[in-house]
Amino acid sequence: MWLIKREMIAELKRDLETLDAQQIVRYISDRYGEKTVFSTSFGIEDQVITHLLAENQTKASIFTLETGRLFPETYYVWNRTLEKYKLPIKAYYPNTAAVERMVTEKGPSSFYESVENRKECCYIRKIEPLKRAIQGFEVWITGIRAEQSANREDMDFVEWDEANRIIKVHPLFHWTLTDVEDFLKLYNIPYNPLHDKGFPSIGCQPCTRAIQPGEDFRAGRWWWEDRSKKECGLHATK
Ligand code: ADX
Ligand code: SF4
Repeated sequence: MWLIKREMIAELKRDLETLDAQQIVRYISDRYGEKTVFSTSFGIEDQVITHLLAENQTKASIFTLETGRLFPETYYVWNRTLEKYKLPIKAYYPNTAAVERMVTEKGPSSFYESVENRKECCYIRKIEPLKRAIQGFEVWITGIRAEQSANREDMDFVEWDEANRIIKVHPLFHWTLTDVEDFLKLYNIPYNPLHDKGFPSIGCQPCTRAIQPGEDFRAGRWWWEDRSKKECGLHATK
């Protein structure tokens, strides 16, 4: 079984290797159609992919994980995206009982107290809803770029996600930040206003701050943790 999957991923990689991001999105949309799902947090990379999917009149499903702790600016760009692209974007919410239990037992900011508490919150608000969101799909498209962190450089633009049993494709894997910004400008794509205030990576409000010049792109995520991998678990790391 694992060998078949490995062979399938290798074949898909060979097919996609020489294609640019536009062509990758078209190939996946054509080959996997409604078996494709795209996750958006309305970050700049995700906005590029939404634009490419809209251009291809995609049959892919699009979803966002509404953690309940997003920035007001994220709701702003969510609205602008709906207005411009008129694509359905399904919102997934955390399980109410799980959030109620965690917040009642530990208060509304338990994530600052330990990595364990932070991971519990990410699990409840992101990972469990993600599992529901990608259930039944064959390919999961994300906006991950290698340049975002050392961890992500170790990933590949096509991967088999064993934990979720799904193929993951990152069409912008080799793009630089400048490539993304140029594309947004060229097509007048709506983007999160926080991006212009030093936020290259935007997650939940209490867990994201602006970065200083020269800092790692993801330095503003869970900034108080110095030894964790600064990943919430949506994307498995080696
Ligand atoms: S995270 O794991 O640290 O939160 P990051 O913000 O870099 O991830 O985003 C990487 C990719 O994960 C995005 O391009 C998007 O596909 C997906 N993603 C992250 N957060 C969300 C979210 N709240 N809803 C849907 N997808 C998300
Ligand atoms: Fe909770 Fe912060 Fe993770 Fe959001 S990023 S789910 S608020 S710990």
